[in-house]
Amino acid sequence: ISKKPRGRGAFIVLEGLDRSGKTTQSQALVEGLRKHDVPTEFIRFPDRNPENPLSKAISDYLSSKTELDAMTAHLLFAAQRTEMRSSMEALLAAGTTLVVDRYSYSGIAYSMAKGLDKQWCSNVEAYLPKPDLVVYMEITPDQAALRGGFGEERYETRLFQEKVYQAYQAIKEDNWKVAAATENPAEIAKGLLESALQILDQCQALPLSRQYH
Ligand code: TYD
Repeated sequence: ISKKPRGRGAFIVLEGLDRSGKTTQSQALVEGLRKHDVPTEFIRFPDRNPENPLSKAISDYLSSKTELDAMTAHLLFAAQRTEMRSSMEALLAAGTTLVVDRYSYSGIAYSMAKGLDKQWCSNVEAYLPKPDLVVYMEITPDQAALRGGFGEERYETRLFQEKVYQAYQAIKEDNWKVAAATENPAEIAKGLLESALQILDQCQALPLSRQYH
């Protein structure tokens, strides 16, 4: 099913707990799509470019250099997606497929883990573009913990990851593709590439829709 895209690019998001293998899989997917001659770019949220004021504010918050209350932190992460919106839409319209490591769902799940309301969290994401495919790398906090010690950042504690896991269960949508993160990485990559090529075929003729609006 190798094919050059004719219409817009596909918008593909990978989600999951820390250590679910999202980053490895998103990079493998970018490579796989490019091998199929699909123009593809990789984006990650949060962006960490220190030259960008929002990115810097997020990095400082994640490394606990600064403190923000939960709602303000939520709006900050959402602001970065909002800031990226027009360039993402332009890339998609120009036929570039986007593989995105974390998106609105991380924003909602991590904020719900702090006790914020799902509806409030979703509201600020409502007008952002909706992915054509969401892949959820399913791993339990127990399995993730076996993959090595936690880092130094704000959310990297066992208790918090438990809450994020519960939040993902609460927001998971029926059309998400769930990949068992503990499977063989090459097998996961193969499955994701197949799904991505299929989605690309289907979405080219369709307009991009909005998250929750
Ligand atoms: P980072 O180390 O950059 O990402 P990853 O864990 O994917 O390698 O850390 C980003 C952290 O920020 C991660 O714990 C998830 C969290 N996060 C939010 O709380 N809200 C958001 O909107 C996003 C995108 C991430």
